[in-house]
Amino acid sequence: MKRTSRLFTHSLFGPVLKILFREGKMPSLVNTEIEAAVKGFLIDQEKMTEVVERMTKEIKMGLAKDTHSRAVIKCFVSHVQDLPTGKERGKYLALDLGGSTFRVLLVNLLSESDVEIVSKSFNFPVTLMSGSGKALFDFLAECLSEFCHYHGLENESLPLGFTFSFPVQQQGLSKGILVAWTKGFSCEGVVGKNVVTLLQEAIDRRGDMKVNTVAILNDTVGTLMSCAYYHPNCRIGLIVGTGSNACYVEKTVNAECFEGYQTSPKPSMIINCEWGAFGDNGVLEFVRTTYDKIVDKVTPNPGKQTFEKCISGMYMGELVRLVVMDMVARDLMFHGTTSERMQERWSFKSSYISDIESDAPGEYRSCNKVLSELGIVGCQEPDKEALRFICEAVSSRSAKLCACGLVTIINKMNINEVVIGIDGSVYRFHPKYHDMLQFHMKKLLKPGVKFELVVSEDGSGRGAALVAATAVQGKAKL
Ligand code: GLC
Repeated sequence: MKRTSRLFTHSLFGPVLKILFREGKMPSLVNTEIEAAVKGFLIDQEKMTEVVERMTKEIKMGLAKDTHSRAVIKCFVSHVQDLPTGKERGKYLALDLGGSTFRVLLVNLLSESDVEIVSKSFNFPVTLMSGSGKALFDFLAECLSEFCHYHGLENESLPLGFTFSFPVQQQGLSKGILVAWTKGFSCEGVVGKNVVTLLQEAIDRRGDMKVNTVAILNDTVGTLMSCAYYHPNCRIGLIVGTGSNACYVEKTVNAECFEGYQTSPKPSMIINCEWGAFGDNGVLEFVRTTYDKIVDKVTPNPGKQTFEKCISGMYMGELVRLVVMDMVARDLMFHGTTSERMQERWSFKSSYISDIESDAPGEYRSCNKVLSELGIVGCQEPDKEALRFICEAVSSRSAKLCACGLVTIINKMNINEVVIGIDGSVYRFHPKYHDMLQFHMKKLLKPGVKFELVVSEDGSGRGAALVAATAVQGKAKL
């Protein structure tokens, strides 16, 4: 069979984009049995439309007071009702916890065009992910203290925005109860607690800085706010990184779980969808494969975050590894043998998918590097083609499902033009993710709806500072 590729010309907001990517067609060197094995990852237009329909229903359930408690997509109210005006000023600290790294930031909003950000990433010991909550928050406070002392801030009374990227039921800008851990975290004694209190208590226990935690926010909200600072039409924030989730600007009257939804003078409310949990009630089985079920079983939260486990960077690599191991066991790849490293769970990093797909078709420079890191030697071209084919199957399903999610939100908002601020390692580093997302959204959206996908810089820094600024101003008005 001939290698098939598809050339698609697409014009949105100006420049003509030429997109070249394979749409699930079998490259010449890939064995038909391998093709059959990844078939489950290929979602056609009909299935995508079905995903949108089901997701729409779930989002409505999450928003409505009567159905919220049994909804899987929780649609938490963020209590952020103001988009940035560009007039926010001042110095803020920010903490960013929720992905592969932990960061402390100092953000100085100097003018509309001048935002100074100093940040430090800290090595986050893996053991903290499953230790005690106290150990986790003490560690965060210790890093914050080190940062403040290094920058001579220990005597400055600074407001802090806490980007805490987990499902949180917010009861105000500075009060958030952790509903469940996701993305491999499982620290004891935090679920059901106000994480702002836990953080502030850890800061106060040290007694060596004057930091005041004024706001807690999800990374999607930071991403939206940060993007809206420069793109006033930004109404959706998306993360496709270690985890996946989106938030959007809803009419306050529809945010029924917000106490003042009928009386608030402010017309809008950012809703943190927590779309990662979509499918936890079984409605996504028609797009899941046997490999998804294996990955799910070995996570600390089996049966949870179904949609996220099909989409995000924490799981994509392991999905590829499981397919490959299955092919090896059936003697369809790598002469039926593989390396010790490849046999270890989670050894195939999602960044490898981006690397492998970055090679031009027929070239294997990055692929060879990945194989050598994994200790796999003596591979022939058909093996490399097969590996790429499997990566493409996993990444294109991810982009399609993400496109379904965004289309659901845009339809729900019933708007004709929107900017979507995006962050996360998968979106940033996968060579075709942006194009695939755009392509599939365009296919699913009603004609005439315009959208722009924009990388949002520093959501957890600038975004957190903007939310903290809202909180400080709100308090000042009282
Ligand atoms: C997980 C978290 C969510 C976060 C997302 C992206 O889904 O539950 O809060 O936004 O990961 O980091």
